[in-house]
Amino acid sequence: MGKIIAASILSADFTRLGEEVAAAGEAGVEWIHFDVMDGCFVPNISVGIPVLKSLRPATDLTLDVHLMILDPVRYVGDFRSAGADYITIHAEACMDLKNSVRKVSETGARVGVSLNPGTPLEKVLEVIGDLDMLLFMGVEPGFGGQKFKVEVLDKIRSARSVIDDQGLRTLLEVDGGVNADTAKSISEAGADVLVAGSYIFKHPRGISSAVSELRKHF
Ligand code: DX5
Ligand code: ZN
Repeated sequence: MGKIIAASILSADFTRLGEEVAAAGEAGVEWIHFDVMDGCFVPNISVGIPVLKSLRPATDLTLDVHLMILDPVRYVGDFRSAGADYITIHAEACMDLKNSVRKVSETGARVGVSLNPGTPLEKVLEVIGDLDMLLFMGVEPGFGGQKFKVEVLDKIRSARSVIDDQGLRTLLEVDGGVNADTAKSISEAGADVLVAGSYIFKHPRGISSAVSELRKHF
């Protein structure tokens, strides 16, 4: 399978969200990454259910919802109804990860679990076989435009080995600090899905150039 590029709308112009998403689709991204922040799990607030609901009929692209919120299970049904294809919750935000993963699956969405840069892979090993996707943060979650932490590469490599050794279907997604300089090493470490926000939506030559530049590196 080829690598997937997911454009994070966190860095898009929200007054023109439909156009920005359409432009990303025309540029060839496969997924739209939708960051939800609650001001508690992370020190920032972004967008939520009504914005996702508005976006759903505006695009056929896969909507990849990244919940950076406490008690995510409480809201997963609403995000699924609003149009999420993938729903990713943070391991650090769940008391009982196995049960939380099951609750996400029960909505009918594909289920992902995310780990902050400092959270070890061991935290998800008991559920990895139940996941459609494992998301590694390359930065501390909360803000776009930060620098990728290279120490996360080792964790990506280890996860790749576990997934391949066990013959799992779990996709490996990397989010935060992805750009034309970091994409190659992230891809070589074993990522299937690369999320990019500021690189795509704030590129000086525009969205289409940004996506072609990224694509050159994997
Ligand atoms: C950060 C978000 C990311 C963010 C990435 O907490 O989860 O999806 O948009 O931004 P860049 O690509 O600018 O690092
Ligand atoms: Zn994200």
